[in-house]
Amino acid sequence: MNFRFRALVLILTLAFAIVGLAACSENAQTDKTPDAHATAAFKAEPATNNGDPAKGLQVFGRMPCLTCHTVSGMGSGDKEAAAPTLDHIGTNAAARVPGVTAAQYIRHAILKPEDLTIPLYHNVMPSFSASLSPTDLDNLVAYLLSLK
Ligand code: HEC
Repeated sequence: MNFRFRALVLILTLAFAIVGLAACSENAQTDKTPDAHATAAFKAEPATNNGDPAKGLQVFGRMPCLTCHTVSGMGSGDKEAAAPTLDHIGTNAAARVPGVTAAQYIRHAILKPEDLTIPLYHNVMPSFSASLSPTDLDNLVAYLLSLK
């Protein structure tokens, strides 16, 4: 290895380290409450849900949710770091965005996941707005609400 090459490797290593540190501190310091526009979008969803949780479980089973999420130990546990578990989402959803009900939060998460701002996670979830009928969506939300 000649000197110039080694110097280049050193500079690149330092550059990546600095970018990495910047990304970490940004993650630690960012306020994770969605902005006013996104919060209004969560609140525009129906506040309650009359779906059928048993039918929702069937919808959940045929959608690709478990490739990223886990529920009761089912799903890709090794990807746990990439997506939050949906265990207790029926309870946790009520506390995610101030003034937003669990039903509103879960429905909007499925339709417009880019509005999600959960600490430590990135916006990689695709929207399922085009792949769910209104009834399937109601039932899927009911199933997730039942995961207390
Ligand atoms: C490609 C991976 C991926 C797929 C597929 C996926 N999700 Fe997600 N999901 C995520 C990630 C990552 C987050 C966290 C997003 C963020 O913070 O921006 C998330 C967040 C959520 C949340 C909010 C969780 C919380 O704790 O607040 C819900 C609800 C949810 N997903 C439901 C679903 C459902 C239902 C499906 C299937 C229809 C699904 N997801 C499919 C990756 C995925």
